[in-house]
Amino acid sequence: MEKLTVLTLVGLALAIFISHRSSNQTRFNAFREVTAVELPNCNLVKGIEAGSEDIDILPNGLAFFSTGLKYPGLKSFEPDKPGKILLMDLNEENPQVLELKITGSKLDLPSFNPHGISTFTAEDNVVYLLVVNHPDFKTTVEVFKFQEEEKSLLHLKTIRHKLLPSVNDIIAVGPEHFYATNDLYFVDPYLRSWELYLGVGWSNAVYYSPDEVRVVAEGFDFGNGISISPDGKYVYIAELLAHKIHVYEKHTNWTLTPLKSLDLDTLVDNISVDPVTGDLWVGCHPNGWKIFYYDPENLPGSEVLRIQNILTEEPKVTVVYAENGTVLQGSTVASVYKGKLLIGTVFHKALYCEF
Ligand SMILES: *[C@@H]1O[C@H](CO)[C@@H](O)[C@H](O)[C@H]1NC(C)=O
Ligand SMILES: *[C@@H]1O[C@H](CO)[C@@H](O)[C@H](O)[C@H]1NC(C)=O
Ligand SMILES: *[C@@H]1O[C@H](CO)[C@@H](O)[C@H](O)[C@H]1NC(C)=O
Ligand SMILES: *[C@@H]1O[C@H](CO)[C@@H](O)[C@H](O)[C@H]1NC(C)=O
Repeated sequence: MEKLTVLTLVGLALAIFISHRSSNQTRFNAFREVTAVELPNCNLVKGIEAGSEDIDILPNGLAFFSTGLKYPGLKSFEPDKPGKILLMDLNEENPQVLELKITGSKLDLPSFNPHGISTFTAEDNVVYLLVVNHPDFKTTVEVFKFQEEEKSLLHLKTIRHKLLPSVNDIIAVGPEHFYATNDLYFVDPYLRSWELYLGVGWSNAVYYSPDEVRVVAEGFDFGNGISISPDGKYVYIAELLAHKIHVYEKHTNWTLTPLKSLDLDTLVDNISVDPVTGDLWVGCHPNGWKIFYYDPENLPGSEVLRIQNILTEEPKVTVVYAENGTVLQGSTVASVYKGKLLIGTVFHKALYCEF
């Protein structure tokens, strides 16, 4: 009997070791090195030194950045400073970022830890900014009204829900209505390790509205970016450690049905959709090991993919930019506006390119 237990334990340990090793190599893409793909007209954005995890650009060229995200266990260059929301006007010749003041707020600013963001423009042209927040490593979704004249964000509401335990990204479909991915990163460290190292695939996507909250997709090996097609008919979800982008058909009752998946050789983080062409722009981590285990001698690189015609039999995938970390470490998002491209990162700088 005892022998059997010992054997079982040895077997279990072996299984965990083997699955850890294979997850190390394949899921994290641990051995991949990037081949540089350059863009000629790129400059680092002044004033962003400690992350620009998410970027959302309005149709009029105003770009919002969430900066200063603190992840448990991940690198931060400014661990003691609260996060901020920055604004940049891409119509300007040499656009600069400015910090948006947060007003009217019951929000605790010292613990503000912004992650995914998404804008929603209502029929009366009021712009709402929805921000995933991790105060004290918990998850809330903060709803703000953007006040362009005052360059400020009026805090309207904090949303918490048991189906939103550890939100990564969000795509707004109304002032208080959104789809979100849960990545299990901001839950307890054991669950996080299970998700990260054993690939249990417990992360999911949820639809939230004040009247109804439900899981709309599940079984992801780290669900990450989420976005929607310009016609509102399709939802795209990035599965980070499976290197896949999933396409779902969105129904009028907000449920999703899987349509297809695209396999890529990189850890897909955030997806943004070109409102004009419908192309997907994806910020990626070519080598996941380097991003989760930061080593200044072996920097995480950056990679941006553009995916055209994703609904057709043969989508076209182009590596638009790739770099070994000398310039830009750990890209998470790439967003375009009229021939301009903004690339953001988990904890490093942001790059502004013209192409
Ligand atoms: C995982 O990958 C890293 C980096 O390539 C390597 O140093 C480490 O030994 C690997 N661990 C296992 C268990 O394979
Ligand atoms: C990804 O980018 C889109 C569009 O710019 C934005 O709506 C979304 O919230 C972003 N999410 C993350 C986590 O980067
Ligand atoms: C939602 O709509 C789809 C498509 O019409 C339908 O198949 C599905 O059963 C509906 N689900 C719910 C929960 O209403
Ligand atoms: C990264 O790329 C740059 C430019 O191609 C090169 O000069 C540098 O040696 C590379 N660094 C590493 C660590 O590979």
